[in-house]
Amino acid sequence: MEETVQIVYQGKTYTFPLVEGTEGERAIDIRRLRQKTGLITLDPGYANTGSCQSAITFMDGEKGILRYRGIPIEQLAERASFKETSYLLINGRLPNQKELNRFSVLLNDHSLVHEDMRLFYQSFPRGSHPMGILSAMVNALRSFYPELQSLEEEINITVTRLLAKVRTMAAMSYKISRGHKVVYPRPDLAYSANFLNMMFDSPVRPYVIDEDVVRALEVFWILHADHEQNCSTSAVRMVGSGRVNLYAAISAGISALWGPLHGGANQAVIEMLTEVHEKGIPVRRLVERAKDKKDPFRLMGFGHRVYKTYDPRARIIKKWCHLLLDKLRSADPLLDIAMELEEIALKDDYFIENNLYPNVDFYSGIVLRAIGFPTNMFTVLFAIGRLPGWIAQWKESMDDPDWRIARPRQIYVGQRQCDYIPLEERK
Ligand code: SDX
Repeated sequence: MEETVQIVYQGKTYTFPLVEGTEGERAIDIRRLRQKTGLITLDPGYANTGSCQSAITFMDGEKGILRYRGIPIEQLAERASFKETSYLLINGRLPNQKELNRFSVLLNDHSLVHEDMRLFYQSFPRGSHPMGILSAMVNALRSFYPELQSLEEEINITVTRLLAKVRTMAAMSYKISRGHKVVYPRPDLAYSANFLNMMFDSPVRPYVIDEDVVRALEVFWILHADHEQNCSTSAVRMVGSGRVNLYAAISAGISALWGPLHGGANQAVIEMLTEVHEKGIPVRRLVERAKDKKDPFRLMGFGHRVYKTYDPRARIIKKWCHLLLDKLRSADPLLDIAMELEEIALKDDYFIENNLYPNVDFYSGIVLRAIGFPTNMFTVLFAIGRLPGWIAQWKESMDDPDWRIARPRQIYVGQRQCDYIPLEERK
């Protein structure tokens, strides 16, 4: 017998169905709540509200579990490529060899950006943040690639264009911002190696591909590929629910990710650690500031809306910090500071009581610095990683029979009815 939940309100009992997920998580289905009771729910930040039923990613915040289409993140980070992971998220299963080869050919064939788009880059002021440029350029793609008649063909080619071109666009924004010659994608390089070459190759200093560096970037992107209904994914779903084209929905996701409380945290962590290093601020001072309610300072890279234990991605990326720095025979004082900060915070009652642990952003910047990326590109790299997840979530919402235009309600707390006051009578 179907389990239900009952609400007693103004002497009447109302019954609502329960929805249960694959892993036993449960929700009250309140889609008839207002119709039955006249009531709505209020849930600032949607911490207690499910927006959809999804088969893409499973997270258990208490146990620190993350799986893409059922496969644990630890296995994907260990054995998969970012291309396979992207295919898995978008298509629901890992590709066979033939499908993977075809996917590679399509990504290569669509990896160039329309030459006229280069003029756009030159129009941005020199100091423009690459996230603002990327969001604008992705939105502009619709102007260069008008909608195709067949919806299925439109979706398939748009998905491929985004996955193939966003990498090139990111590298272009970096090169042009430095006044350097743009490096084109090469047909002989795989996805991540191609991006590194576009970023760092130069006519006077050819970039040498290091397989460990390529793998570190692949793992970084795999770890960031999806994360169920986070802020930027919810933005993609919400904007997409108005049936706008996918480029515009992804552009909205990029904008949402830019915030320092979300994807912008990886840049904010490095800026925080750099200040500690350059000014010799005692690490414990940061922990005290984070605890001080009068101080708006937050320990960047710590805490999470879902994970109330160690972010499984942070464990993996922390390991890669050591692997990569050892391989490159370089040390990073910021890693030492990060590890000292983690050690102090995890023993502090405030962090323990609030379940504040390192999240993926706490260590990811150390890996990106070791590879040679400038700090203001870190969130762009997060966006490239998250792109397959955004696309998968958008596609799932388009195919969801329950999906409607997203239009939350509110509780009005403003003025009661009042009259217009002519200008001459106003004080
Ligand atoms: C990402 O959602 C996702 O899945 C996101 C993401 C993804 O892959 O898409 O995982 C990527 O965005 C990771 C998070 C990156 N952001 C940061 O590292 C910024 C620092 N973190 C915090 O701002 C905060 O932890 C959030 C934004 C991540 C979560 O905020 P919540 O869920 O709204 O938690 P909260 O603000 O209600 O915090 C609960 C308590 C509060 O204390 P009280 O006001 O109740 O007394 O914990 C405190 C907070 O003040 N707190 C912190 C803190 N994070 C929470 N105090 C100090 N430092 C922090 N970092």
